Amino acid sequence: MTVAAGQSETIVILDFGSQYAQLIARRVRENGVYSVLAHPDVSVEEVRALNPKGLIFTGGPASVYEAGAPRCRPELLDLNVPILGICYGMQVACQLLGAQVRSATAREYGRTQLRVLRRDDRLLQAVPAETTVWMSHGDQVQELNDDFEPLAATDTCPIAAVRHRTRPFYGVQFHPEVTHTPHGNKIFLSFLYEVCRCRGLWKMGSFIEAVVADVRKRVAPSDRVICGLSGGVDSSVLAALLHQAIGERLSCIFVDNGLLRLNEAELVRTTFADHFGIDLIVADAGDQFLSRLAGVTDPQEKRKIIGHTFIEVFKDKAKSIPNAHYLAQGTLYPDVIESGKSLAGQAANIKLHHNVGGLPDQLGFDLIEPLRDLFKDEVRRVGELLGLPEAIVWRHPFPGPGLAVRCLGEITRERLDLLRKVDNIFLEEIAANQLYRKTAQAFAVLLPVRSVGVMGDGRTYDNVVALRCVDTSDFMTADWSRIPYDILATMSNRIINEVRGVNRVCYDISSKPPATIEWE
Ligand code: XMP
Repeated sequence: MTVAAGQSETIVILDFGSQYAQLIARRVRENGVYSVLAHPDVSVEEVRALNPKGLIFTGGPASVYEAGAPRCRPELLDLNVPILGICYGMQVACQLLGAQVRSATAREYGRTQLRVLRRDDRLLQAVPAETTVWMSHGDQVQELNDDFEPLAATDTCPIAAVRHRTRPFYGVQFHPEVTHTPHGNKIFLSFLYEVCRCRGLWKMGSFIEAVVADVRKRVAPSDRVICGLSGGVDSSVLAALLHQAIGERLSCIFVDNGLLRLNEAELVRTTFADHFGIDLIVADAGDQFLSRLAGVTDPQEKRKIIGHTFIEVFKDKAKSIPNAHYLAQGTLYPDVIESGKSLAGQAANIKLHHNVGGLPDQLGFDLIEPLRDLFKDEVRRVGELLGLPEAIVWRHPFPGPGLAVRCLGEITRERLDLLRKVDNIFLEEIAANQLYRKTAQAFAVLLPVRSVGVMGDGRTYDNVVALRCVDTSDFMTADWSRIPYDILATMSNRIINEVRGVNRVCYDISSKPPATIEWE
């Protein structure tokens, strides 16, 4: 059992292949109850071991009457633990409980008007009698036996919500987890607090206390923990959390690879060494990285060189730290799910990992991963509670290979310096226009081409930069941010006037897919 599960009430969410599974898990947690995702095949013993207050069955793309459609162990319905089935999850459970599921004559997709038939029932008590819900289904529950009671209907779906009369089972055909269902959260609240009788114990403050106690128990007084600090949100929160637990027995290694943004190394130094008083070992390895990258233009080759050099530099610094038995890593819950190592098994959507792997194996350390139960928004909350500055807690992600993958073509100090200045102006304007928290990532890219321009009376033949700014919540898909024209105009003017060597600025208007967020 994880530290988080050990100190809180748990809702187990069976993922039938829903694109919203992680969103459901976050909704539950935002409402103060810890949640874990599980594969639909999860055994009854594994579920029982978590001592859940309730189960949620997610939606999914299959049809329950198809061969091979995902199902759950029927005994889960006999645990006498409340269950909320959503869309496919409702259909699976209803079918197991004797109802008939068939293809609907009319598919329902999008916003739909719902009529609540039983507002005296706990699940829908807080929802208006007529309300909008988000539907996305081709099948529906069509025949109920006397054990069921319909709770809500739409024009084409007479059983849009249902409860079982003798078992603690509820089902909704619509999706309460998405924002297009405006009263959806009230349904989660009713399920968690009225049906499951949760108390709302999942608080980041108590999570910190539990992790601190756990780390203190695990790490002997003579042992040290090493933490690779990049200045990103995850490693920063990790360092602050471990520092709270073991103080000066934590050593952080920060590799300055010469590929960082303007003032980035300084921010890490002042925050962690000066403010927190953390033992920070800075590896000034810019020369090493840049000499190996000299003349390399192939993106994959750049990544490989950077990955290998990073491991070498890190290993070298780590060797100098006595009694270090542990390496801390900022693994988060989505990483755990996507690695296929959680109760959720191999998830339907598998994200490719970009990060340099293999460090712990190569170094022979034991791993400490105190954030592995958390979603990103929860990590940020922990960071805030630990007193990390806003500039770190709300930092946009920055790739491990740094500016190397934004400096297209050959990487030289001069080109990196130019890119840093452009990037800094772009980010200054993003912040000045209150766009930093509204966007997911914003950065400049230096292109490997020159363009002709005119300045004063003279012809120029100078660099072209691209500005990239995207909106996304999961970084798997992204849309380009609609930055207002007048702000783009200021950005472009400032860059061309203030950065010598740039005569053209482009704004990247490609979504992901088919483009990626980074250019290399
Ligand atoms: P792409 O370019 O694949 O990026 O759409 C998705 C997200 O991943 C980040 N990214 C990386 N992060 N090491 C990292 O730690 C990498 O090699 C890497 N490549 C891309 C990218 O910045 C975006 O947030």
